[in-house]
Amino acid sequence: MKSQDIRKQFLDFFQSKGHLIVPSAPIVLKDDPTLMFNNSGMAQFKEFFLGNATPKSPRIADTQKCLRVSGKHNDLEDVGFDTYHHTMFEMLGNWSFGDYFKKEAINWAWELLTEVYKIPKENLYVSVFEGNEAENVPFDQEAWDIWKELIDEDRIILGNKKDNFWEMGDQGPCGPCSEIHVDLRTDAEKAAVSGKSLVNADHPQVVEIWNNVFMEFNRKADGSLEKLPAKHVDTGMGFERLCMALQGKTSNYDTDVFTPLIEKVEEITGLKYTSNEIQNISEEQNKTNIAIRVIVDHVRAVAFAIADGQLPSNTGAGYVIRRILRRAIRYGFTFLDTKEPFIFKLVEVLATQMGDFFPEIKSQQTLVTNVIREEEASFLRTLDQGLQLLDNEILNHFAKEIIDKHNDGDKKNIEYLFSGDIAFKLYDTFGFPKDLTVLILKEKGKTLDEIGFEISMNEQKARSRKASQVSMDDWKLITLGSNEKFVGYDQTENEVKITRVRKFDSKKDGILYQIVLDNTPFYPEGGGQVGDKGILVSANETIEILDTKKENNLILHITKTLPENLEGTFTAKVNTDLRTASSKNHSATHLMHLGLRTILGTHVEQKGSLVNPNNLRFDFSHFSKVSDEEIKQVEDFVNERIQQQLPLIERRSIPIQQALDEGAMALFGEKYGDNVRAIKFGESMELCGGIHVENTANIWHFKIISEGAVAAGIRRIEAITGDAVKAYFAKQENTLAEIKETLKNPQDTIKAVVSLQDENAKLKKQVEQLLKDKAKGMKTELDAQIIEVNGIKFLSTEVDLDANGAKDLAYELGQKQTNLFLVFGTISPDASGDKPMLTCYISKELVADKNLNAGLVVRELGKYIQGGGGGQPFFATAGGKNAAGMKEALDNAKQFIL
Ligand code: ALA
Repeated sequence: MKSQDIRKQFLDFFQSKGHLIVPSAPIVLKDDPTLMFNNSGMAQFKEFFLGNATPKSPRIADTQKCLRVSGKHNDLEDVGFDTYHHTMFEMLGNWSFGDYFKKEAINWAWELLTEVYKIPKENLYVSVFEGNEAENVPFDQEAWDIWKELIDEDRIILGNKKDNFWEMGDQGPCGPCSEIHVDLRTDAEKAAVSGKSLVNADHPQVVEIWNNVFMEFNRKADGSLEKLPAKHVDTGMGFERLCMALQGKTSNYDTDVFTPLIEKVEEITGLKYTSNEIQNISEEQNKTNIAIRVIVDHVRAVAFAIADGQLPSNTGAGYVIRRILRRAIRYGFTFLDTKEPFIFKLVEVLATQMGDFFPEIKSQQTLVTNVIREEEASFLRTLDQGLQLLDNEILNHFAKEIIDKHNDGDKKNIEYLFSGDIAFKLYDTFGFPKDLTVLILKEKGKTLDEIGFEISMNEQKARSRKASQVSMDDWKLITLGSNEKFVGYDQTENEVKITRVRKFDSKKDGILYQIVLDNTPFYPEGGGQVGDKGILVSANETIEILDTKKENNLILHITKTLPENLEGTFTAKVNTDLRTASSKNHSATHLMHLGLRTILGTHVEQKGSLVNPNNLRFDFSHFSKVSDEEIKQVEDFVNERIQQQLPLIERRSIPIQQALDEGAMALFGEKYGDNVRAIKFGESMELCGGIHVENTANIWHFKIISEGAVAAGIRRIEAITGDAVKAYFAKQENTLAEIKETLKNPQDTIKAVVSLQDENAKLKKQVEQLLKDKAKGMKTELDAQIIEVNGIKFLSTEVDLDANGAKDLAYELGQKQTNLFLVFGTISPDASGDKPMLTCYISKELVADKNLNAGLVVRELGKYIQGGGGGQPFFATAGGKNAAGMKEALDNAKQFIL
């Protein structure tokens, strides 16, 4: 039976039992602070269990995309190594919200498995909750009695709280459960060992396929259980495992859920995956299999997360997705020898395979493919850089060992641990995975100081914890005022009283105060726009407000000092110059947002925004550089609307649905209330709480000053408006005037610059040629200076060439001679003074026979010229800062061959 049919039969079965079939919820959860991803079918129904909302139907069934990679349910590290865990999997589920309970749930589960799917009864075991005294939840007699009617009692197993009491997370609905396990072993294996003893024992062919949870409780934040208002059923069946059982396989990866993806990986890499039926495979093949399983599993998780709006990033859910993808890339890199992006090519297979049932993977296919390709490319670059760095560090770190070995004829085996601190730095700053470091060290016969690594990791954690701790006093209540009211959309100045103050240590700016007012014209930072600055004035004092922020519905005015008379009446005055400048940038941001979507396409979605008095910064999804032509079009788009003098139409509080129906743009992943504020300029309409110009004409002019990438698939534009544009143009004009003057006011400035460039290129060529000729002359001279030391032809001397010349010379001498060990010093003048440089060349046979290493030589000698460098064992260079140390460096070269 094909997987598509298996899925369909499940849904048809529960439809026939009166269930409403609903689509899978997105894999990424937006508004549940206790959960990052959907980790079970019931997550989207949480509110129904808690009694906070009512479902469309008391009986629902679906297949839900789930991700178990963080929090309470985390299978990530198992994936690839076994044959039945996944990051993303489909959970088939049926629910009763206060409707049917254990009897129907159990009977239907049995009917579906044994009569529809026709799984032999003798292959099934079930479990029932044994009870838990501490939690005050008794043995589930009811479930036991229902099962007894369907299955031999000796196939019913009692399970403890870990296995038979299901909870979605640390908090939330939960209850005892009854699991169904299937035994997929051969008859011989079954005869030898009873399946019952293998239930819940991590046996790859005796696995749980279906969990029926009887939701009765809510786990509260303090850990206690409270009864839910009603009793519910929540079930989840692992789709991939069910396919394994019904397709007669012993590994999920041998089902048609995975085989098309595996075939594609085989096609790309030229490697073969062996099915679970094939035994006694080599160590090498086992590694290939693991890597392929990791990749075909992870691509599904990553692709669906991106399709559901979660781009890989450096924080939160985005970081989890990035890590999953990087795990796949790394397994490919290390075990499949894939050094180029390739995982993105699997998206097409996935879209063909799953697109009919999950249309999002088809509609977002381009985005998903591009994001994955970019992520792959950038992580492969990181790996490459990290590998070079690691190579250098290994060389550095084990330099003493190499010298010791070299000096000691016996080559005694001195084993050093590789610094955990350096490995941690590689991990922390380059994202270079620790296990890859371990692997590379292992290949070189070294070990990582794992304890040192842990220590560095913990130190880092402690540092960041400390850095984020802000010490805060308790609030001091001043006057009893009503809750603070924001009046800043209409006023920039008004009479206020202070209601409360609080002192805090901001770390960055020392001791500061937060002042709350009874009403305020100050806009608190939000929606990308920075908070207002200004002053609080009374008859005898003026207090500066440095910033305004919002916290739990309070508007906090940040100051360096407190007024002497806290009970007095003040005038709160917003700095309107700054606010006006910000409002121009904010309104321009809206126009640009629309412009980008019009010109580049509706795939452009806002991914971040900063609006301040000086400029605006806007991050958005888009996959290639925005061309100069497109930039110009966006500028024109905005400037046209500035010229059209579009008035601001502000709808301060309208029902969200009405705003959306009128075409307001809401931000993806943002949570809005029932009533929203909408800002409209012409066709641009956005849900927004920010401060805007009264008329687009006030923006004066809009100019984009930079465009670049911030992450894979995310571009950033910075732009300016108003006075900043005037200043920008004035500066450009000045620069041009200065260039003209420097060039002695030529008639045609561009021509003058071009001819200067041409001339420069010509001169450069001439100089290069002259240096080459000179090097040729020097070759004969230096040849004569080579002496023999311990059978090695040796020369260490300063040469009057540039670094390139020294390199050419070394290679030319090296071609003529064998057993050569050369060190050249060069000193070239540059802007900051004389720049010393060492070049070391060692014939390949010396590298091999005498364990010499040019990288090590320049690193050691580099110390005399206060420099460092590296390269390969037969050729390396080091630049330095101290030309005076050159003689000593060259004099010491000989020690390497003595
Ligand atoms: N919510 C239950 C589970 O995930 C069905 O196992």
